[in-house]
Parts: sequence; C-alpha cells; structure tokens
Amino acid sequence: MKLRRCAVLYIESREELSIDWPAVLAGGSALAANTHWVALAPHLDQELTIDAQALAALGGIGQTVWRPLADCEQQYGAACIARLLDQGLLISDNADYAKARERDDTLRGAHWRPLSALTHTFSRWREVNSENGMEAPSFQALLERYGEPPPPTLELPDNGALKLPAAAAGPMDDQLLQRYTGRNFDLQASLPLDVVARLLHRTFGAQEVRQVGPHASVLKKTSPSGGGLHPIEAFVLVQRVDGVAPGLYHYHPIDHALNPLRTMDSAAAAELAKQVLADQHWLADAPLQVLMVGRVERSFWKYRNHQKAYRALALDAGHLSQTFYLLAAEAGLPAFVTAAINDADIEQMLGLDQLRHAVVAVGGCGPARSGPRTMVELRYGETDAI
Ligand SMILES: Cc1cc2nc3c(=O)[nH]c(=O)nc-3n(C[C@H](O)[C@H](O)[C@H](O)COP(=O)(O)O)c2cc1C
Repeated sequence: MKLRRCAVLYIESREELSIDWPAVLAGGSALAANTHWVALAPHLDQELTIDAQALAALGGIGQTVWRPLADCEQQYGAACIARLLDQGLLISDNADYAKARERDDTLRGAHWRPLSALTHTFSRWREVNSENGMEAPSFQALLERYGEPPPPTLELPDNGALKLPAAAAGPMDDQLLQRYTGRNFDLQASLPLDVVARLLHRTFGAQEVRQVGPHASVLKKTSPSGGGLHPIEAFVLVQRVDGVAPGLYHYHPIDHALNPLRTMDSAAAAELAKQVLADQHWLADAPLQVLMVGRVERSFWKYRNHQKAYRALALDAGHLSQTFYLLAAEAGLPAFVTAAINDADIEQMLGLDQLRHAVVAVGGCGPARSGPRTMVELRYGETDAI
C-alpha cells in the first residue's frame, strides 16, 4: 500500500478563550487561551482537529509522490498514519480508502487555486436560518453596536478637482433610476410567462453562439464574462409563474427552455425558497428566483490554478445580477440578489458537487405589494418610504 498527502491542505492554529478563574482570584489576567491545530481540506468539506504528531506527518509526506506505507509508519508511527488515513487527510491507493481518493482526485482534476478552493468550501452555509445564524440587524442597531461607519465617500485631498457637467438624460435612465431591491413582494401576484421569458433570455440566454473550434463554442450574452466563458448557469425556482408548475428547473441558455428537475406544490416551493435564502422571508416571497451556479470546470479549463479565477466567477454573477435587476425594473418589478444563501443545501437540492460547481448567489423578482413606493430600505425586511 502506498500513500501521499491530500492535494490541498491548510492548517490553522485555533484559539479558544476562557476565563481563568484561579488567575482572576490571584489578581492576574482573566483570559486563558488554549490553542489546537485544525486541518482544512476542501475535498473533505469538514474541519478536523489534529495533534502535533499528525502535523509533523502532514508536513513531511508530500502531495505528489506516493510513498510506501511502511516507510511512513516507521517515521511517524502506525497509529498516527492510520488516523490520518481514516480522516482522509492522507490518500491511499488501497480500495478501503477509495472515497477520500475519489474526492481528492476530483479536486486535483478541477484545477482550483488552493486558497480559492479553501475559501469556497469553507464559506458555504448549510441549514442556516434565523434562529441559528442569519442575522439582519437594522442600521440603527449597527450604529449602536459599532459606532459611526466610515464616510460614504473616499475623501482625498483636493488637488484641483474638475467639476463635471450634470449627467445628460439617456435612454437607460428609466431602468437605472427605477431599479431597487424589493423586500415587498406581493404574495398573491404571479409573473406572466412572457415577462419571465424576456428576463431569462436577456439575462442568461445566449444572444449568439460562436463556434471557436470544431468542438468548442462560446456564448454571447448581454453581460460580460471573464474569458468569454460564461460559466454561470441559471437554475430557476418557480413559485408563481403563469403556466409553469412550482418547482426547480434548469434554464438552458441556447434552447431558451426550462427543464424541470423537481416539480412540487406551492407550499413546498415556498418552503424551499426560504431554505435557499437562509430564512430571508422578505426575499423568499418573490415568485421567481434564479440560483446562480458557476461551472468551475468550464472556467478553470482556461484559468487553471489561477489566482483570479474564483474572483472572476463572483464578478460574472454580479454582472448578471445587475442585468437581471435592470430588466426587472423595465418590467416594473423590484428584484433582489443575495449571497446570504444556504449554498451547501442548494448543491444537495440540485445534485451538485462543490468542487465542480460553485453556487455563487441567488436573485429574484416579482410584483410589489401595493402601497407606497419604497426606494430606500435601510433594514432587511423593513422599509423607510421616501
Ligand atoms: C452582493 C450583494 C448581496 C446582497 N445581499 C442581500 C441580502 O442578503 N439580503 C437583502 O435583503 N439584500 C441584499 N442585497 C441588496 C442590498 O441590500 C441592496 O442592494 C442595498 O441595500 C441597496 O439598495 P438598492 O439595491 O435598492 O439600491 C445584496 C446586494 C448585493 C449586491
């Protein structure tokens, strides 16, 4: 049997603080700090506590060259090696440890930049809700907690600033100035199919397919995309769209079609919407949501092990979001985008692998409840009408 270390591994020194009562009573420092090592390996998708012996083994066994088991056992101790194999931090060619090897191979094959794989994997949420972590403090509460925020603009010393003429009116003004984040969706209203068709096509649809090789093509969309690869896919959660059953769909950007993955009744779709949005009920009422998922393999085919590739995925989703917002504004609809989502739950719903697909953000839109038009919403879920 041979083994090597997993491809991507970061070790963190974690500190736990506690009150040192004996020291307090003796008039000394009140805080006691305990540290331990935590291993973060994206292919395992969980944090693991390790000891100093394991740390030495993981530092000494390389990630590329396979080494005989006996060698490693002799150097670091059989018990330590067995534990690391069981944890999946060491990878083996033995079938008993096939699962960890398969995940490690998937990670190796995806061309992630190691720090990006780490950030992505360990920033995902699973089953976060309003009771266990989703916090939406008001601006007032933030002011009380943190004091005044830094000013809204960067104030550099005036080096003779050139005052610009007023912005001329333009054809995009209506959309740009009407756009706002809606937290006031009308639970009774549904979206007409032609509105949804335009929103999806003009945001996520291929406006053109360009053949760039015998078996290679790129899409032209209304938003720009890093490397022209358009790795962001749109999965659609329908709650209330005329003529479309509630459920989860994949939007095909060339066929311009909604492919059903799971249909359900409206109560189940509403429940799913809340789960996806980590309990943000003020957004979950929207009749249409779009789950934006980056196809890592498409992007990293070009940007292999690239420092900026993960950032480009997020920027792509940001561009698509704004296009979606503006099209929604054109249709007279408020929209939203959020990254406060249960990405790991979304992966599970859609049968996706976080090493190959990066859930980036969720957007949505729908008719607003009647009432005063709100342009400024200082608190998620609450509004200040102007
Ligand atoms: C990246 C990003 C993440 C956001 N996340 C949330 C969110 O989790 N919940 C929410 O209600 N709004 C969210 N928003 C909406 C912002 O709060 C909103 O854009 C901001 O308050 C300005 O309001 P406006 O869009 O109406 O101009 C997000 C916006 C962006 C661009």
